[in-house]
Amino acid sequence: MAGRAVKVLWLMHGVNLDMLGRRPVEHYGTLTLKDVCEGVRARAATRGFELRCFQTNHEGRFVEQLHALARGDELVDALIVNPGAWTHYSWAIHDALELVTVPVAEVHLSAIDEREAWRQVSVLTDLAAVRVSGKGLEGYLEAVDKLDSLLEAGE
Ligand code: DQA
Repeated sequence: MAGRAVKVLWLMHGVNLDMLGRRPVEHYGTLTLKDVCEGVRARAATRGFELRCFQTNHEGRFVEQLHALARGDELVDALIVNPGAWTHYSWAIHDALELVTVPVAEVHLSAIDEREAWRQVSVLTDLAAVRVSGKGLEGYLEAVDKLDSLLEAGE
């Protein structure tokens, strides 16, 4: 971050999140992924971040994007991830995320802690400085604010 006027925030979505707007409304609401990106972009801008939105349905592509961030191929100061169902079992994503040195927020639209037993497990928990679930778009906005506060505090 040092020496740069603009901070860069990445928002990475995983499997099936391109289908937001068509998924069960009781868990995911009616917003599309584009709506989520634009909502996060607006909040990020108020905090001095430029936002980069990314989504893939391919686990290896998600891993490769994390590698690019870890290597510094792309500017990044903070990262929000919602890996979808991979959250619950992908140790490959865990191990790639471990290489990323900037603060990470794990966000879920739905209340994963109150759903099926398998969904209550996240293999990423130990790597996330911020965790929010069950608050829809608001949860992402909260994550932006918390990540910014962490950066301001130099953590
Ligand atoms: C999700 C929760 C996951 O359990 C699910 O597989 C998703 C979305 C959420 O945002 O609530 O695809 O990550």
